[in-house]
Amino acid sequence: MKLRAPAKVNLSLRILGPRPDGFHDLESLMTPISLADEIEVETGIGQGVSVHCDDATIPQDASNLAAVAARQFHAHTGRRFVARIDIRKRIPSGAGLGGGSSDAAAVLVALDAIFETNLGVMGLEKIAASIGSDVPFFIRRVPAWARGRGERIEPVALPGTLTLALFKPPFGVSTPWAYKNLSASSELPGVDYAAQNWNGIEFVNDLERPAFEKYALLPVMKAWLRGQPECRAALMSGSGSTMFAVCEHRDAARGLVARASEYFGTTMWTSVCEAPV
Ligand code: C5P
Repeated sequence: MKLRAPAKVNLSLRILGPRPDGFHDLESLMTPISLADEIEVETGIGQGVSVHCDDATIPQDASNLAAVAARQFHAHTGRRFVARIDIRKRIPSGAGLGGGSSDAAAVLVALDAIFETNLGVMGLEKIAASIGSDVPFFIRRVPAWARGRGERIEPVALPGTLTLALFKPPFGVSTPWAYKNLSASSELPGVDYAAQNWNGIEFVNDLERPAFEKYALLPVMKAWLRGQPECRAALMSGSGSTMFAVCEHRDAARGLVARASEYFGTTMWTSVCEAPV
């Protein structure tokens, strides 16, 4: 079975505070975007999971979230199977785009269909939450508010289609590191973290504070993007390191990507996407 596993961006991400379980309560407006990995899941009789990925930098052992998903499906349903999972990676990792989480959700959806377990959205979201905080969002793959530690999903209609230009510098940000350093972080002088409003959406990300302190290029990118004529809003997605700019149409986003590549150099990964998909 073949599936597309879309990336996400956080249009807004507010961290409400730490929880006794070591996670943080949050409130985030998330949307799937047209950038996607391609996942193929094949099953047979027996037991065991193997993951193969065309990107050698991605772990292909039991720690890969796609493999974790297959094991959690077995744990929750009792179904025994051999699974071979092939991932064509298009979503950069360590990027705040949810690539690993989306792959995991796609594996759950595929196994539910293959074994006709009819777990439904709620059942799948429950298994998804045992894999990672971002995984439940990718079961429905629609724009949604995520609350709790990210597992409470409330679909919402966006005011319209967004065209996004994505920019990822040649380093990633560790999500546990960003959350751990949030409370001790402070705002850098001269950097604008304030909410930006465009087309009925409020764009803001509380994790910019720790990320910008450690990775000095990120606030420079944000200020540069916000100064460009095509840009309606610019901020970091999730715990970074991807920065995205909201544009009004594809040509504007393409122009912005071309200028950014000239200014920041070609080691910067870029993509033009639509949201939602
Ligand atoms: O759930 P996930 O494995 O994606 O989370 C990675 C890490 O990010 C957690 O171990 C935790 O340190 C942090 N986190 C958090 N609060 C959240 C989500 C993630 O503190 N709501």
